[in-house]
Amino acid sequence: MASHKKTKKFESGDFSISHEPFYLPQGTEIDLFEAAYANKLPVLLNGPTGSGKTRLVEHMAWRLGLSLYTVACHDDLSANDLTGRYIIKGDEVQWIDGPLLMAVRNGGIAYLDEVVEARKDVTVVIHPLTDHRRYLPVEKKGKIFRAPGEFMLVISYNPNYQSVLKELKPSTRQRFISINLGWPAEELEIKIVCQESGTDVNTAEKLVKAANRIRNLVHQGLEEGVSTRELVYAGTLMKRGLPVGDSLRATMIEPLTYDGDLKKSIGEVLKNYFSF
Ligand SMILES: Nc1ncnc2c1ncn2[C@@H]1O[C@H](COP(=O)(O)OP(=O)(O)OP(=O)(O)O)[C@@H](O)[C@H]1O
Ligand SMILES: [Mg+2]
Repeated sequence: MASHKKTKKFESGDFSISHEPFYLPQGTEIDLFEAAYANKLPVLLNGPTGSGKTRLVEHMAWRLGLSLYTVACHDDLSANDLTGRYIIKGDEVQWIDGPLLMAVRNGGIAYLDEVVEARKDVTVVIHPLTDHRRYLPVEKKGKIFRAPGEFMLVISYNPNYQSVLKELKPSTRQRFISINLGWPAEELEIKIVCQESGTDVNTAEKLVKAANRIRNLVHQGLEEGVSTRELVYAGTLMKRGLPVGDSLRATMIEPLTYDGDLKKSIGEVLKNYFSF
């Protein structure tokens, strides 16, 4: 069997980021990220949906000149999906690298999005990559692969989603440099909304001010506050000339809750800033 095996190696260039992704820092996250990379330490990004985790990783990959291998984790994702597998092609058995092995072989950032969703064996394969050992065990090949200096592991975690059963274990959490992203300060978020949606400052300001009031409704049962992403969407629709009410309903009301009373409350907050 061994004589038929072929190893397929992917080009790292396929995953490089050529243009600077716009990212406005909320605090010292860029410095923290750079320091982690320089010291070969893994990073854990904590933050609610739409708070800029993915954008930060894209920006840092560009800044550090690294390829980016992103994996959206789900409850069926196993260690083999990350490391690779043999496939049969004609009468040959071919080895296909998984995204984590690609990053370890070629150097680059491996970004495991929502890692707690994945199966337990994923934690087992990432542990030796997260401390001084920096190697990836690939059971199917019976080998370990040492990560080069240009390899970095980044995982994300949304504290609002996880149930008690799906918390990161302390032994995993404590291996990472933790970066917390929340909602950006008002003036920063206005700039982000303007830049990303192309809307004017006045509209962006009203969207952000309304969002900050809606975020307070979390105490009244709203699962997650309105995200920066949704403000960007609202600005984008209005900029395209869609009616204000339709734009707001489609981005800042409907996606937030199924609860009729909460929808009404959100609408009332928005009516303080927009007429619709
Ligand atoms: N600090 C920021 N600088 C620039 N853009 C930002 C920033 N924060 C959020 N955004 C905007 O919000 C959008 C959503 O951000 P992003 O996709 O990074 O969120 P996320 O935290 O990865 O969310 P999820 O948990 O749902 O994956 C981005 O596409 C961008 O338009
Ligand atoms: Mg993301």
